Amino acid sequence: MVVKRLEIRAFGGPEVIQLVEDVALPVPGPGEVRVRVEASSLVFTDMLIRRNLYPVLKLRLPLTLGYDMVGFIDAVGPGVTRWQLGDRVADLTQVGGNATHLVCRAATLVAVPQGLAATQVEPLILSYMTAYQALFREAEAKLGDPVLILGASGAVGLAALDLCRAFGLPAVGVASAQRESVVTSLGATFVAYDAGDAAAQLDRLTRDFKGFKVILDAARGEALSTVMARLAPDGRLVALGFSAAFRSAHQAGDASPRLFARLRFAFDFLRIKGLSSWPGSSRRVVFYDIWDRRTRHPEWFQDDLSALFGLLEARRIAPRIQRVFGLEEAADAHRLIEAGQVEGRLVLDLTLPSGGDASGHHAGADA
Ligand SMILES: NC(=O)c1ccc[n+]([C@@H]2O[C@H](COP(=O)([O-])OP(=O)(O)OC[C@H]3O[C@@H](n4cnc5c(N)ncnc54)[C@H](OP(=O)(O)O)[C@@H]3O)[C@@H](O)[C@H]2O)c1
Repeated sequence: MVVKRLEIRAFGGPEVIQLVEDVALPVPGPGEVRVRVEASSLVFTDMLIRRNLYPVLKLRLPLTLGYDMVGFIDAVGPGVTRWQLGDRVADLTQVGGNATHLVCRAATLVAVPQGLAATQVEPLILSYMTAYQALFREAEAKLGDPVLILGASGAVGLAALDLCRAFGLPAVGVASAQRESVVTSLGATFVAYDAGDAAAQLDRLTRDFKGFKVILDAARGEALSTVMARLAPDGRLVALGFSAAFRSAHQAGDASPRLFARLRFAFDFLRIKGLSSWPGSSRRVVFYDIWDRRTRHPEWFQDDLSALFGLLEARRIAPRIQRVFGLEEAADAHRLIEAGQVEGRLVLDLTLPSGGDASGHHAGADA
């Protein structure tokens, strides 16, 4: 049995991704288990890690990509009593998930119901969890609260729209004009950020709703003061990503948007931190970081991911999967992400036969 995984030995474009094989399976130590991985992430955040643009993580090479994973336990280390061989589990890994086998700490794993398709479970671990905790842990959204989602057609944005629909939160989604149908298909009002009257449309919606109770900003395309002006008096802005900053550097033809993007991340990050520590504004704007939240509140992570599995089982949510990829095709997935050609989620399927062609392996939103 060999381990196959997606390794990078240098930071850079999609071409740095290498499919490597290890002849020996990793052995779990005390407090660890080994997981036979079924599915793992192919998301914007993996691309940031590949380019060494991830703002809050000191990365060491070589590394295996993959921010999350779902799979079955196939070896149990000394001292682990909570898990047994064959248990199905999910974990947030930051790196390492894009592998057929992975050793991880037993304590952070979350039990996954056996009946669910792995390619539907995987988007819940990072993308849906981010949206769920931003909406309900950070912003404390309640039934009927209007929500504005900036970056609505991406992995996190579509998850947030799906959750708004499931929980009765009227949503406005902002993305490029070509994404109108996917945003409105989830019941949201759509605004195109690349339309000439986008700001006027958002001003009108802000007035109609008397300000948004919740704003999730996954794009950081507009000035913070502009976004904050759209909040209701008791509303909260949850900043969580920087897609627009990367996109504009990339589209400007900068082959290495690293410096620009890093400066933008640092500026925004410090500004948001500063704003959130101002007296009277601490509840108004927060920066959400899934890894930090799980470290500080591991019980929330367990409870919230279990709640998401329950919503999936009850068919109250339906992750939209644009395409499922095999290991050999992962660099193509990263190219789509860099080009902004993703509408929903790309998922890595680690159960596809080696050397096989997964290119016809698509799964619709209700697959
Ligand atoms: N803080 C956390 O814990 C956490 C967790 C997960 C993800 N993230 C971050 O959140 C961000 C979004 O992640 P993702 O996976 O959803 O990315 P994604 O799939 O690439 O989606 C990006 C979204 O941003 C939109 N966008 C691009 N430029 C925009 C602009 N100028 N104005 C408004 N929207 C714009 C895109 O719309 P079009 O495609 O239509 O242009 C798309 O809807 C990333 O920065 C990611 O690293 C953070």
